[in-house]
Amino acid sequence: MSACHGNPQQPAATIKPHGQPFWLLAELTYKCPLQCPYCSNPLDFAGQGEELSTEQWVEVFRQGRELGAVQLGFSGGEPLVRQDLVTLISEARELGYYSNLITSGVGLNERKIGEFRQAGLDHIQVSFQAADDEVNALLAGSKKAFAQKLAMAREVKAQGYPMVLNFVTHRHNIDQIDRIIELCIELEADYVELATCQYYGWGFENRDTLMPSHAQLERAERITNEYRDKLAAQGHPLKLIFVTPDYYEERPKGCMNGWGQVFLTVTPDGTALPCHSARMLPIEFPNVREHSLRHIWDESFGFNHYRGNDWMQEPCASCDEKEKDFGGCRCQAYMLTGDANATDPVCSKSPQHHKILAARTAAEQPVNTDFLYRNERNSRVFYKG
Ligand code: FES
Repeated sequence: MSACHGNPQQPAATIKPHGQPFWLLAELTYKCPLQCPYCSNPLDFAGQGEELSTEQWVEVFRQGRELGAVQLGFSGGEPLVRQDLVTLISEARELGYYSNLITSGVGLNERKIGEFRQAGLDHIQVSFQAADDEVNALLAGSKKAFAQKLAMAREVKAQGYPMVLNFVTHRHNIDQIDRIIELCIELEADYVELATCQYYGWGFENRDTLMPSHAQLERAERITNEYRDKLAAQGHPLKLIFVTPDYYEERPKGCMNGWGQVFLTVTPDGTALPCHSARMLPIEFPNVREHSLRHIWDESFGFNHYRGNDWMQEPCASCDEKEKDFGGCRCQAYMLTGDANATDPVCSKSPQHHKILAARTAAEQPVNTDFLYRNERNSRVFYKG
């Protein structure tokens, strides 16, 4: 069954201490030309409501700035699908945001990059699936995407942006890590994030076909460290960031820097979330069509629910690390245990940690490519189901 289903329940909110949102993530659309099986979008995205209009997005941005947000991410789906992107960028600039376009590069061209630059876009991050067209096509579900990404990464740099590349790594491409890094050097990238995929949304459905083995992960980290040392010794400007998956940790991540503390996501239909995956939880979240962002951030049940730690169960409630990791990720706890209040099973103190150990064991099995691709057709199955 889809992890997106649950029984909404919404008692009155208890307002708890919190800061102001620093990051506003605008998921402009769920439309996307690619079909990556690790996408964190909801499984039932095909059944989500109508997208916010240009005016509604601009109003969200305005209210976000009033709340104190300074970083604005344009993401999706593929944000380039939105025909009003230049207008949204220019409004964001006018409001004083530092704006970041998170894109696959598919649908980008020289003219658009120039228009974005002129409208005031600060940063473009292009994501890659692999270091060659064969693996890239296997993961993206598109044969033409790789050449297009290479061309666009070069064009982004040519137009004066730093080249920021994101490679999502998993068991099908992590053994190419040296070729990935060589490609980044050849492209004259400035920053590269080598992030092992996270298991949310479609990624969770495909976890057993995506998760690298421990040996794969260790090798990739070692090679990345060797490249880092070599590049530093040469005075090379490329910065390599290696992100390990929490499934191989013994303590959970302090997800989102704490629930409702720093991040605010608005989905294409205007639902406001404390993290991009929270919609799967059995909690009703507010919509910007009905409430102001200030009300949503300060007073809504959804944003207050996991603030502080009075919601915690054992072993989190008496744990001396609870201020550090906040009991881990609520979405992961829900996906793995069916209880969003549970300790994140990544934690070795969790009574359900065996589920993480079982996933590690499954990652030692022979590789298969039996992916459930993220596309409209597959999503409609979850929507109807
Ligand atoms: Fe939702 Fe971690 S992804 S709380």
